Amino acid sequence: MVGVFRHLSNRDLRFGSGRIGDLPGLVPSTGTVLFITGRHFQKSPAWSMLVGELKNRNVKILSEIVTEEPSPEVVDSLTETSRNSGVEAVVAIGGGSVLDAGKAVAAMLRHEGGVTDYLEGVGHLEPTGETVPMIAVPTTAGTGSEATKNAVISRRGIDGFKKSLRHDAFIPGIALIDPELAVGCPPNVSLSCGMDAFCQLLESWVSTGATPMTDALAKDGMTHFAQGSRLFSEGLYGGADESDCRSHLALAAYNSGLTLANAGLGSVHGIAGPLGAYCEVPHGVACGLLLAPVFRRVVAHLENAGAAEAETFLSRLTLAGSILGDESLDHLLGRFEVWSDDLPKLSSYGLEESHVDAVIASSSNKNSPVSLTPEEMKRAVMEVF
Ligand SMILES: [Fe+2]
Repeated sequence: MVGVFRHLSNRDLRFGSGRIGDLPGLVPSTGTVLFITGRHFQKSPAWSMLVGELKNRNVKILSEIVTEEPSPEVVDSLTETSRNSGVEAVVAIGGGSVLDAGKAVAAMLRHEGGVTDYLEGVGHLEPTGETVPMIAVPTTAGTGSEATKNAVISRRGIDGFKKSLRHDAFIPGIALIDPELAVGCPPNVSLSCGMDAFCQLLESWVSTGATPMTDALAKDGMTHFAQGSRLFSEGLYGGADESDCRSHLALAAYNSGLTLANAGLGSVHGIAGPLGAYCEVPHGVACGLLLAPVFRRVVAHLENAGAAEAETFLSRLTLAGSILGDESLDHLLGRFEVWSDDLPKLSSYGLEESHVDAVIASSSNKNSPVSLTPEEMKRAVMEVF
């Protein structure tokens, strides 16, 4: 029997090379529109085209730059500036941090107080779900934030946190994905973003919250990842095949956002969140590093369990490996170990050994098919310390 489930997604998905040209026509012509971007995008021909087109249409814009995972202070200050400028819609063009900043500001324009008041596990208020219209335009293929209902807000340090502003209504109304925007993204960033997307697909694929819809999207996403990941494994940067790889990776990342929003994630993300609060490790790097050490332990649990349900999860993981062309789970995880050799380790981002116990104490197994013990989680972290 098919189970009981629900599926949320954007109202409008526009995908494909050249789609950025749709953007001026999608932006409301009344009120001011806030454009949040990364620094790099404002130097691109796409930005000049947008600014020119919007001027032709007499659209008033406020342009702001976000360069790192948004803190509560950044969100509150952008919200205040936007309110004073009469902002009535938000467009975010960038990586996960930029999109999350955009989602948070769009929501906070319709909420009283500061964003911290509404953060899960931190604030004392529930978001109402009201938000101004929001268009998400990813320029990296990673977090899938363009499809998710949360914005991750970070405060670093000993009293740090990495928590979500979350509501079903915060899924951006329009996701506009033009894979060409990621062409030229540096290899190390492309790799860590891609590993995050694959991790999200794999964790949703074996999530205890998986649904028929997320299963279909996760399988399809892994197929696209297999095609797009030639960019990393064959070093196709700058060549004739880069655009083709980028388009497959962009769709894999989008699918991963839908699957994570609807099925939930597992222990890799359960550890990566708190890790990001203790050191400046980018989210994609944290997930890329932890994927193999965590999944090796998940597989060991499943193999020892022997129960029918554990067999189902194991056969799902084996199928994931075969989609990527790997003969066994060992090969699949070995591939991630090879890729993660190219990523800086956690200590290089300022993680101290004395912080690891606190990181683990805040970690969770979320929707993982097995619960890793704190000791197992700690050993996984120390493998990539
Ligand atoms: Fe992620």
